[in-house]
Amino acid sequence: MSEHSKGRMICLEGGEGAGKSTALERVRDWLERRGRKTLVTREPGGTPAAEKIRKLLLDPQTGDIDPMTELLLMFAARRENVVDRIRPALAEGVDVICDRFTDASYAYQGGGRELGPTPVDLLAGLVHPGLTPDLVLVLDVPVEIGLERIKQRRGGPDRFEGGRKAFLERVRNAYLDRARAHPDRYVVVDASSDIEHVGAAIRATLENRLG
Ligand SMILES: Nc1ncnc2c1ncn2[C@@H]1O[C@H](COP(=O)(O)OP(=O)(O)OP(=O)(O)O)[C@@H](O)[C@H]1O
Ligand SMILES: [Mg+2]
Repeated sequence: MSEHSKGRMICLEGGEGAGKSTALERVRDWLERRGRKTLVTREPGGTPAAEKIRKLLLDPQTGDIDPMTELLLMFAARRENVVDRIRPALAEGVDVICDRFTDASYAYQGGGRELGPTPVDLLAGLVHPGLTPDLVLVLDVPVEIGLERIKQRRGGPDRFEGGRKAFLERVRNAYLDRARAHPDRYVVVDASSDIEHVGAAIRATLENRLG
């Protein structure tokens, strides 16, 4: 548990269409049934200013930007969300459920864009010192399955979904490497089975880790 607060921080991570937002609702239900107050947030985003940065980052019309610029924008949005919403909630004893957080930067900018972990480590230390998720659920699914799941979405792929397969494979592997390196806080959930099976695996993980 984060030493600075009573609230717990639970993050949903994984590639495009892995089922993070679906899983997030399961996590929220599980906590609220146990009488916990929750705050749900997503990254990049979470505050009005951070949502504007999200638009810039996800819009295919933004085109290619330097990977470090992309990382800095992610952390600029994150800083707003941490200061405005996440830390105050945790301090009040509210459990925070985050649809992506800094692990996504390790996966997408560190792995996918090949910046490696060092700049992410540095920025995490600057932007949210001492704040580490209590539990990270990595929803793991083959890249093709995830992309297939989100194909029907209106408006076409965003800047990340439209990335090359090799990029998305690096993202997936970076998540798995990170989960292997920190088994105390990370749980990899096989998200390739149907929604009910994945939901059951998530509940079992919550019982095991937070129950
Ligand atoms: N286990 C599953 N099996 C089949 N379909 C699923 C499963 N989980 C989620 N879906 C469906 O796949 C689509 C993507 O799911 P969801 O939005 O939860 O993924 P996500 O990881 O949040 O995606 P994104 O990366 O776009 O945010 C939704 O239509 C959802 O209903
Ligand atoms: Mg989602």
